[in-house]
Amino acid sequence: MSPLGRPRAHHRRTDSTNERAKALARVGAPHGTLVTADEQTAGRGRQGRVWTAPPGSAVLMSLVLRDLEVGQALAPLAAAVAVCEAAESCAPGVTCRVKWPNDVWVEGRKLAGILIEGRPQEGWTVLGIGCNVATVEFPDELRGGATSLALECSRAGRVPASDRGARDGPAPEDVLERLLEALEPWLVAWPRDVLSAWRQRDALLGGQVRWAQGTGTAAGIGDDGSLLVDTAGGRAALVAGEVHLERAGQ
Ligand code: BTN
Repeated sequence: MSPLGRPRAHHRRTDSTNERAKALARVGAPHGTLVTADEQTAGRGRQGRVWTAPPGSAVLMSLVLRDLEVGQALAPLAAAVAVCEAAESCAPGVTCRVKWPNDVWVEGRKLAGILIEGRPQEGWTVLGIGCNVATVEFPDELRGGATSLALECSRAGRVPASDRGARDGPAPEDVLERLLEALEPWLVAWPRDVLSAWRQRDALLGGQVRWAQGTGTAAGIGDDGSLLVDTAGGRAALVAGEVHLERAGQ
């Protein structure tokens, strides 16, 4: 397989890197093609949400992947593990967890999100990742729920692994580089290794969760990546959708 990140198209401003990457995939862009942007005007998240970030403050990237070895179902989980590892290596002392299926959290606040789209039947997938790196102020609706590597570095006076100086936190380009390095092995990893790494970072385990159809106690993930929840009526396995953590586990 060719390495991730080549060829690369960088936009100072675009609608959505996922849209650009999908357009490239449709006309035959090779595995590993990377689209990045300083700013998105129509960044998209899961469940129809929007994804916004001040210009130049975040990693905004989409990768074209062909014939995924880790398998379609576990790719979102593998990507989340890679984001955790990259973030932790750029910001020593920061510990990342994953909120099912693939939000990356630091101490209960969202650091990064992942949106996977594609046409498996045509042999391609686009892996979109947004990671807040240098953001120091979030809009009112996100404040309290979102964080960045800059904020996490400064919160505890941590020194970032970057040549930009301790005050700034790591640069988005440094985080992107680490992220591509981390994705490379995780996207070809054995399913059991992906599941095991993901389970060690499970932010919901033992917590009280709520979703559109019910509530219960999060009991980890199944081997197919579904979220297991113990409810009054027995164990449920959620394969898609959104869950909310109402009370963390012990
Ligand atoms: C989520 O948490 O809901 C997923 C967010 C994914 C955002 C990234 S930013 C780069 C790429 N382009 C997009 O339009 N979305 C993804």
